[in-house]
Amino acid sequence: MMDRAGRRLTLLDDPDICLHSPMLVKPRLVPPVIAEATDRNASTGRFLVQDVYQGLEGVKRGDVKWLRVIEETSRVSASTMGGSPYNQTFLVSAALAFSVKNYLGVAPVSEEGSAYFEVPAGRALYLQALDGDGRLVQSMRSFIQAAPGTTRSCVGCHENRSSAPSPDQRFRRVLAHPPSRLQPESWGGGYLDYPTMVQPILDRHCVSCHGGAREIAAGLDLTGGWTEHFSISYENLVSRRESQLVNGYAHAVKPVDAFPRRTFRAPDRSGSAVISFSSTQSESYQAMLAIVRNGRELALAEPRVDMPGGEIIPGESRQLIAVSAPERWPALRATETASGVRLSWDRRADLSGLKFELHRSEKPGFTPEATTRLVSLTRFDYFDVAAPSGVQHYALISDGGPSPAARATVMVTGHSRNRKADARSKVRGSDPIRSSDRSSL
Ligand code: HEC
Ligand code: HEC
Repeated sequence: MMDRAGRRLTLLDDPDICLHSPMLVKPRLVPPVIAEATDRNASTGRFLVQDVYQGLEGVKRGDVKWLRVIEETSRVSASTMGGSPYNQTFLVSAALAFSVKNYLGVAPVSEEGSAYFEVPAGRALYLQALDGDGRLVQSMRSFIQAAPGTTRSCVGCHENRSSAPSPDQRFRRVLAHPPSRLQPESWGGGYLDYPTMVQPILDRHCVSCHGGAREIAAGLDLTGGWTEHFSISYENLVSRRESQLVNGYAHAVKPVDAFPRRTFRAPDRSGSAVISFSSTQSESYQAMLAIVRNGRELALAEPRVDMPGGEIIPGESRQLIAVSAPERWPALRATETASGVRLSWDRRADLSGLKFELHRSEKPGFTPEATTRLVSLTRFDYFDVAAPSGVQHYALISDGGPSPAARATVMVTGHSRNRKADARSKVRGSDPIRSSDRSSL
């Protein structure tokens, strides 16, 4: 026992049993038991929102037309113990998609702000208030569940947590009607998924210049091939967002101090607003939907193992189709830097997933073999930290890949390792980087 001043007193001690939360042994009333109200055979429950506008300051009564119901689901891919963490990623996004959003549909909100609707029971659900054009007014940031066969009611969007609804005849009238069924979203509904909803737009409008048959404009490949982590276009776009990129990948978050301080300037709100999608009926929105729907259909016709509808194979999350060797090699670049010789080559869709081998020798035109092998890897760059001083020749090959190999030569001075400030490479000849992708094996 401890008093207010922190003084302790041992009442009873027994080393053989745990005397943790003692209770007095005395007669007491039987505690009340709440009657079972759920219907275990039902697969749905109901929600009654009494007045959405309670808590929606600044929103005009009548503006909210729909409540959207979103389910938060887990990732479906099984991962074996000790497996790769990437193996459990439900492929909606490469980074920070801890829960997958499944859009179940929308329920109408009456003029007076009430909504009474049926939802699947036992799922983690949250609600969003939408206006007549399907635009978001407020989103819930927590989730609730419906017990099977019961009606759960709440006040608004949101009242204070310690307040309670006033009993009102109006809700009896609402409850006298059958609950509304969820209606599909303007775009159909279901899972949000980058490969089936974003990639088709890139395929249609961007890939012709960015990674298509012609070229990779601005060094930006927007094709949708799979990578070790996720997809080529996603990673290439994310890696251009400095705010999320840490050590070359987007899983970590930089500390606030890492960003330069900028003074905040209030946006100029004069002039007329530019609305890309004025409503779900707008022509451009509908045109975008047409592409997305078509992309979805194509993708879902042959679901990947980790997509809804895909066959779940324990321990696997992606169908890795064996990559066939490329027709031509990417150019191999070799540069001396403060941390060793940096070897890099283009990230191309047709090379994604391919296992490369890097070889080094002091002999020009050497034949790659076990003794010259540095590393085998699926990445597109490598630091050779152990490169000895002198002229070094490198070759990039792949098992079963075409010969000749891609080759590059660099003069290793070792100087830049000591002088970090000037990390520029000193390379034989006048070219800073000499590489050739067609010299013979
Ligand atoms: C679209 C508007 C909206 C509607 C409708 C709505 N909520 Fe919420 N709800 C919110 C928002 C916003 C929050 C988060 C509040 C916050 O974090 O400050 C929230 C949070 C909650 C929380 C967590 C509260 C806490 O203190 O952590 C519960 C529980 C909840 N809502 C229950 C319900 C129930 C039950 C209903 C009706 C079936 C409902 N909500 C309808 C917007 C809404
Ligand atoms: C007709 C060819 C073409 C099409 C189609 C095209 N781009 Fe580009 N894109 C370019 C060229 C060329 C550049 C380089 C422009 C420059 O450097 O001024 C570029 C640059 C970019 C950049 C800047 C890259 C960087 O790091 O500087 C981004 C991002 C980009 N495009 C995205 C897209 C997206 C998204 C689409 C589709 C909606 C698209 N592009 C469609 C040709 C195209």
